[in-house]
Amino acid sequence: MAKLVINAWDRKSKISRELYGQFSEHLGRGIYEGIYVGEASDIRNIKGMRCDVVEALRRIQLPVLRWPGGCFADYYHWKDGIGPGEKRKKIVNANWGDVVEDNSFGTHEFMELCEQIGCEPYICGNVGSGTVEEMSDWIEYLTFDGSSPMSELRAENGHPEAWRVKYWGVGNENWGCGGNMTPEQYGQEFRRYRTFCRNYGDNRLYCIAGGADVADYQWTEGVMKTAAYTGNRRLMDGISLHYYTQPNTWEHKKRATEFELSDYYRGFVRALRMNELIEKHCEIMSRYDPAHEVGLVVDEWGAWYEVEEGTHPAFLYQQGTVRDALLAAVQLDIFNKHSDRVKMANLAQMVNVIHSIILTEGRHMILTPTYFVFELYKGHQDASLLGSWLETEEIGDEESRIPSLSHTASIKDGELHLTVSNLSPFRSEEIDCYILGYTPEIMEGRILQGDMAAHNTFDNPENIKLNELQEIKRKDGGISFILPACSVAEIILKENSPKK
Ligand code: AHR
Repeated sequence: MAKLVINAWDRKSKISRELYGQFSEHLGRGIYEGIYVGEASDIRNIKGMRCDVVEALRRIQLPVLRWPGGCFADYYHWKDGIGPGEKRKKIVNANWGDVVEDNSFGTHEFMELCEQIGCEPYICGNVGSGTVEEMSDWIEYLTFDGSSPMSELRAENGHPEAWRVKYWGVGNENWGCGGNMTPEQYGQEFRRYRTFCRNYGDNRLYCIAGGADVADYQWTEGVMKTAAYTGNRRLMDGISLHYYTQPNTWEHKKRATEFELSDYYRGFVRALRMNELIEKHCEIMSRYDPAHEVGLVVDEWGAWYEVEEGTHPAFLYQQGTVRDALLAAVQLDIFNKHSDRVKMANLAQMVNVIHSIILTEGRHMILTPTYFVFELYKGHQDASLLGSWLETEEIGDEESRIPSLSHTASIKDGELHLTVSNLSPFRSEEIDCYILGYTPEIMEGRILQGDMAAHNTFDNPENIKLNELQEIKRKDGGISFILPACSVAEIILKENSPKK
């Protein structure tokens, strides 16, 4: 039996809903086919967007979507993707398989998609191969409400009203595919580009600097030092971090469904490294931003495996198993725990690419086990993180040791939301939960559970789905429940007369 203590009086940081964001790039079947099929398609769509995918994203209350890349962003010229479809420039997508990009999904389509989903757009501008003028024009095109060359062009293209865009990325991976810059060089570029990222009307941009890969602390240091502030004025709202979980090596990746127990444990050791990365990057950020005004934005994360057999190696299409759902759960717990500093996170990538929550094949769509983690965790969005303590045991093998359990507790509008994962592949665990300052009267729960390699396929789309969590027992001072091996559960508690 494992003890869990939750202190409902101890309200910590607000878990910003943007921690539950996604990322979609012009890569493989991520956008084309996965999201956008065009109006002429016989797949059910509204203005070209697949209805099944949009409905699934609405169900998990997707808060924010990052686009158009990734590496594609620093290669993308937004004017290629506006205007009549037949006139749009066809380009080669040199980052991802040299395939033809016909630009049929561009600015208007992305904004339409976000409106259909009901999420915030997060647009990543081009620093690597673009110009300050191009980025500045894009912002004017999107958000300027008066009369100007860009707003008139927008109206000519069928959208006279300005859109609202908050999240703006100033380049992506500028240490690599975004221009091979040094941190100081990028820092200087950020200062220049940022100057022309204007707030039109009451639209307020939240400008995010292209941040580090994994443990490249020198990058964070150089960019923060050069560009976080000019004098006393803050230039940067956020800085990003990219970290992918790779249980093996990049040269010897295995497929998502083909792994040994040792890969399973090693995968968690690597996923849990996210905690150390966040703490160390934040420590550096604090040196240049002692008031903690700059947020850390983990805008690419997830488990990256070998592509599925018979698929294009540059399309990065992989399956997703219960292991991946658990890997996502432990990392979301880390983001929640650091929600005082981490302001957004975007799983890479939403549909058909790397660690997806949705897979499509022609007209068919399936949800991966990771999708259900986002469903179980949506109650944490904008809730207050609660102080809590969970007793865990160490499990694993000689090489890799991991905690057996992971959790988050939060409260919003009087509702206490608890998510707990059991990472043990073999052993179920009873959780004995004490709650201070809260008397639950109404309890409900859901659970995702399966063998570690279990997954959904187009032939068996509901192999892994959510079920009701049976037998949540009320006891003196709290509740108890049983978590089977390889499971993630959500418990919602309500009081009869909620305290404020
Ligand atoms: O998500 C795939 C790629 O990984 C992105 O384009 C890039 O930013 C990262 O290296």
